[in-house]
Amino acid sequence: MIELKKFSYWYPGTEQSALDRVSLSIAEGEFIGIVGANGAGKSTLCYALSGFVPHFYNGETEGQHTFNGQDMASLDLGQLAGQVGLVFQNPFNQISGARFTVREEIAFGLENLGLPQNEMRARIDEALELVNIQDLAERSPFSVSGGQQQRIAIASILAMQPRVLVLDEPTSQLDPDGTRDVFTALSKLVSTRKITVILAEHKLEWLATFCDRVVALGGGKLRAEGSPQAVLSSEQMLRLGVGRTQYSEAAARLLRTKQLPVTLEQARKALK
Ligand SMILES: Nc1ncnc2c1ncn2[C@@H]1O[C@H](COP(=O)(O)OP(=O)(O)OP(=O)(O)O)[C@@H](O)[C@H]1O
Ligand SMILES: [Mg+2]
Repeated sequence: MIELKKFSYWYPGTEQSALDRVSLSIAEGEFIGIVGANGAGKSTLCYALSGFVPHFYNGETEGQHTFNGQDMASLDLGQLAGQVGLVFQNPFNQISGARFTVREEIAFGLENLGLPQNEMRARIDEALELVNIQDLAERSPFSVSGGQQQRIAIASILAMQPRVLVLDEPTSQLDPDGTRDVFTALSKLVSTRKITVILAEHKLEWLATFCDRVVALGGGKLRAEGSPQAVLSSEQMLRLGVGRTQYSEAAARLLRTKQLPVTLEQARKALK
């Protein structure tokens, strides 16, 4: 569905490529996690997979970059927007600022799709429910917390019902309940609508539970790719600054201890 072949990208006026000969093929219905340290290229890869590179961000590209077999650069941005949705890393960039209530804000993106009123209302209600913010519908999008804004940004894109959903650290400002809501909504959409989800995320425990495949970046290069089990348990994740899940961490510490703990007190010490 989306294919990169030895794809490189340079932001305007930069010498160093933000993506360096990345080859990645994404099939319909996959749930893919992107991991990497700060500056590894996660956001840039999200832009490339959603067509924001090269349609929104100028700059230089090299290699192949296709969506359903067609060169991404040759596609009409309007057509692409109906099929691929991007949730930005910073929800502030997503909120239009042109609307007074959350409901109107979500309607904003839908208005260009030319939907009948009742269809629009149904989609907004569904999106509000998916991320659990029905109670915010009549509030101003600027009078809510960062976490709530993040949920609003996600709901705005969900309401567009894209076939491919690209989310750049969508839970960075959410507490554990909010994070669970978002992952539950995404996995529901993957199983009921067979949409494709691509998600850059630091919360590895959630990726381990929900993703079919994890892609690890370092310095703009694709460093590892495979099942969450294979990728997230590898030593390489420590070198890349990705870290590991708290479960891997606990197990690794336990395995380093010479004698297994037998009391709660010893277990606490061993696992600390
Ligand atoms: N608009 C831009 N102009 C020039 N260089 C940029 C721009 N945005 C990002 N870069 C550079 O591209 C590289 C990849 O950045 P990117 O934002 O994709 O990384 P990231 O993995 O998303 O990082 P973070 O975890 O901080 O969000 C970095 O070296 C960064 O400095
Ligand atoms: Mg980023």
